[in-house]
Amino acid sequence: MNVLFQPAPIKNLQIKNRFVRSATYDGCAKLTGHVSERQIALITALAEGGIGLIIHAITYVHPSGQISPYMNSLASDEFISGMKKLTEAAHKHGAKIAIQLFHGGREARYVKTKRQLPLAPSVIADDPYYKGNYREIAKTEIESVIEAFGKAAGRARQAGFDAVQIHGAHGYLFSQFLSPFTNRRCDDWGGNLENRLRFHREIYKTMRRHVGDDYPLLIKLGVEDGFAGGLEHQEGIQAAKMLADTGFDAIEISSGVRGQKYSGTEYRTKINKLSKEAYFRSWSREVKSQVDIPVMAVGGFRTFVIMEEIVQNKEADFVALCRPLISEPALICQWEKTPDKKARCISCNKCLEAVHKGKYLHCVAFRNR
Ligand SMILES: Cc1cc2nc3c(=O)[nH]c(=O)nc-3n(C[C@H](O)[C@H](O)[C@H](O)COP(=O)(O)O)c2cc1C
Repeated sequence: MNVLFQPAPIKNLQIKNRFVRSATYDGCAKLTGHVSERQIALITALAEGGIGLIIHAITYVHPSGQISPYMNSLASDEFISGMKKLTEAAHKHGAKIAIQLFHGGREARYVKTKRQLPLAPSVIADDPYYKGNYREIAKTEIESVIEAFGKAAGRARQAGFDAVQIHGAHGYLFSQFLSPFTNRRCDDWGGNLENRLRFHREIYKTMRRHVGDDYPLLIKLGVEDGFAGGLEHQEGIQAAKMLADTGFDAIEISSGVRGQKYSGTEYRTKINKLSKEAYFRSWSREVKSQVDIPVMAVGGFRTFVIMEEIVQNKEADFVALCRPLISEPALICQWEKTPDKKARCISCNKCLEAVHKGKYLHCVAFRNR
């Protein structure tokens, strides 16, 4: 059997193949944060399409972390029953499903509609990369956010999710704590790498208390910022190692605080030749060589043989995809029959622009073809 279709475990969770749907915000949650029928249809299509593990979209756990009106919440028990419908849809078709717990930090723009300012580790004057208004998070607020992650992880387990993933990449609150550019604190939450990772590690411990020892806790980590003066590569790799030592059960490797639009960010454009695919491959390989937990590579996978080579060479245990599965949710089943098929995604990012404008997630490029 091809290595990409061989099962593999994350802790005691068996995944039927090596394909992961990387977390994808879908703009489809109800305005109350509850699960919608459209989301159940999306998860059903992915599960029917052969994916091993679906990581459901960013989900806020504390009101201060909300970035959009159309995102899911697990900030209270009232959301558990709707989430159960999502997990049942995945399980019915043989897929496992995790949920991505999220806090937007300074980018949690939606909180402004509640007449509050977004929170961040520090306020950076004249930041060339981020222009919004926000304020410094107080120590007591950090504690309350940590507790909210713990409770939400417990709710995720009750709702039937097979695992929880923390969003520790792409410039949101976890990245803001980890980056020396956005975290200028002089207390226990800032300064050296150990302090800048304290938030991640306290959240791990609190979630673990709420979910028990046998439940998989994952993290998507940005190991390098997109500009000079941000998180540097070697520190990012060291952070991945420290989080594996803390107890996280799998790690997905991506980028941190963003620099210029699309270039060097998590969703690069113009992936039109093999050499442009798998753009975080070397980071994944490096982390994989230093940790004993499963590693997921993400970023620009479009061709079967590249993913096969990466798993075969033990540069990652799993490969995660986002945009190709927006366009073709049944891609994995198709690859099983026809590995030569190339994903049709042209990485135009019009799907991303659509959800940013408040539209439902869909492939804009191929919608009418
Ligand atoms: C429309 C859209 C929504 C996304 N939502 C999330 C998200 O909720 N959480 C996350 O960690 N990354 C999110 N991402 C980033 C992807 O998970 C992935 O890291 C990135 O797109 C690179 O993978 P790809 O080349 O397979 O698309 C999103 C990307 C797109 C295009």
